[in-house]
Amino acid sequence: MCGIVGYLGRENCKDILLDGLKELEYRGYDSAGVTILQEEFANFRSVGKLDGLVNKMEDFQVEGFSTGIGHTRWATHGKPTEDNAHPHYGSFTHIVHNGIIENYIEIKRELLQKGYSFTSQTDTEVIVHLFEEKLKSSETNFEAFQKTISELDGAYALLLITKDEPHRIYFAKEGSPLILGTDFENGEQFFASSDAPLIGKVKSVIYFVDGEFGFVEGERVTLYNSTGEIEKIYSQLPKDREVAQKEGFRYFMEKEIYEQFQVVSDTLMGRVLDSKIDFDEFPPELFDGINEIKLCACGTSYHTALASSYLFERVGKFRVSVEFGSEFRYKNPLLTKDTLFVAISQSGETADTLASLKMAKNSGLRTLAICNVDNSSIVRLADHSLLTRAGIEKGVASTKAFATQMVVLYMLSIYVGKLRGNLNVDEVLKEIQTLREIPNTLQVTDDLHEKIKRLSKRYLHGHGFFFIGRDIFYPLALEGALKLKEISYLHAEGYPAGEMKHGPIALADPELFTIALLPKTILYEKTKSNIEELGARDSTICVISPENFDLADDFIRTKPHNHYMLEFFEMMLVVQLLSMEVAIRLQNDVDMPRNLAKSVTVE
Ligand code: AGP
Repeated sequence: MCGIVGYLGRENCKDILLDGLKELEYRGYDSAGVTILQEEFANFRSVGKLDGLVNKMEDFQVEGFSTGIGHTRWATHGKPTEDNAHPHYGSFTHIVHNGIIENYIEIKRELLQKGYSFTSQTDTEVIVHLFEEKLKSSETNFEAFQKTISELDGAYALLLITKDEPHRIYFAKEGSPLILGTDFENGEQFFASSDAPLIGKVKSVIYFVDGEFGFVEGERVTLYNSTGEIEKIYSQLPKDREVAQKEGFRYFMEKEIYEQFQVVSDTLMGRVLDSKIDFDEFPPELFDGINEIKLCACGTSYHTALASSYLFERVGKFRVSVEFGSEFRYKNPLLTKDTLFVAISQSGETADTLASLKMAKNSGLRTLAICNVDNSSIVRLADHSLLTRAGIEKGVASTKAFATQMVVLYMLSIYVGKLRGNLNVDEVLKEIQTLREIPNTLQVTDDLHEKIKRLSKRYLHGHGFFFIGRDIFYPLALEGALKLKEISYLHAEGYPAGEMKHGPIALADPELFTIALLPKTILYEKTKSNIEELGARDSTICVISPENFDLADDFIRTKPHNHYMLEFFEMMLVVQLLSMEVAIRLQNDVDMPRNLAKSVTVE
């Protein structure tokens, strides 16, 4: 996810900005850049790791007072190229921006008509040209800045510097984080998109909230919101860097579970339109002559593949098959060219998935990657790729990568269904409405987390866990079981609820814990009977459902929803939180569980 830094003062602006960007590296990025304004602008941008940018700036010196802005970019609109890297610039203004400007296409169209030319494919570049355009009808730069941000729809945290006011930085925040630190003694101002770059530089900071904007000059801050000029109280900055990166959460995994609602909004952004799904990453012709989609992945990504196979068939009415990377590569599969091969991977480096993708390519299949890391091996190899936009995932046990993969595959199933004429207008609208509601469903409430925290103390022993569910809740049960075993080291298995009586039920006794996914909107009565069968054999049962279940030993209530996918995402949160709370109580290292690696590059 993108990062922002800014500085104004007499210290070495270049070093301060580069140090700040270094602190933001943990969030993930694929290009970086810096602009420093002394007499003139100096702009440096490079693709890849920060070292490239550092090398480019090697001979550049800063003397005396200067103003600077810097950025690490995680590509959303446009590839990770130097032209697409921030800061973007117009004739006399430079800008860095996090977030996504939803109406950038309309703004760009108008600016092109007025004669502006663009050097990047980004949504951000429109802001800088719009500012210079607004200036023509404004008395001051600030007025032009206000007019500019009032025309932006979407999310932004942005910093803007302009040549005739070299001692000023304009800023605005809506939907993306932005923090200001002030050193009153030395008249220095520091901006960043999270705490980490500010630690050691300043003690007190302002955490801007949505709708705030203004400018800094010397040690002064001029701040506005929709009501007019406002005063803001400074807060204390955390002292420890890793604590700062965790943003108040105990573990990265916890932070990543909590930020799912936000990253899923990024995944949807620009792809979910009023009455259709739009992917500018590949042409619709990708599906010409395709009769089957083959989804291939490992681990958690395999569970997304399996879950989405229900969506492709039910929603998109399109044939799919699902393969484990480690199995597929050695089974001498029969591959035909009417198959689209889809490799799903968080890291983009998983050896078995990569080898399977190579095989598919060598057999002449068209290929698509669904991945969280641009420029990874899988993305580079596939013909096309859809990035999941989860931001870097630090917890080894995957959470937000799973959620964003699910959302991409859900969108793809609607896209394919519409493309093939398998969905009518109303059906498309219904699925789109559901997609839009997913981020809200992913908000972790205090009540839910507290309930799971308390309940987790009863699940620290026993001879095993069954996670059970039907239909798309079966792959979710598999994922719940995988999460629990990865970080708690307790034995857990996922099963289709209807399979119990074919063998596994022999294990049922009070020391066997059943975690039952019981949605209301799909196969409710059938799943309920399967849970009762286990209860009758004395298994200890925890039911997750919006409906009361009198026979359960424990019960976690979810909200009622009108679509099974909203139930799916809420239950996903529950199993993630439950696994994490059990592991925390067992005093395990939740972020770095034993024997596991984040990127599995060996077979
Ligand atoms: C998930 O919690 C795991 N750590 C693991 O199963 C992972 O999903 C698997 O190794 C595949 O990784 P990938 O998505 O990066 O390809």
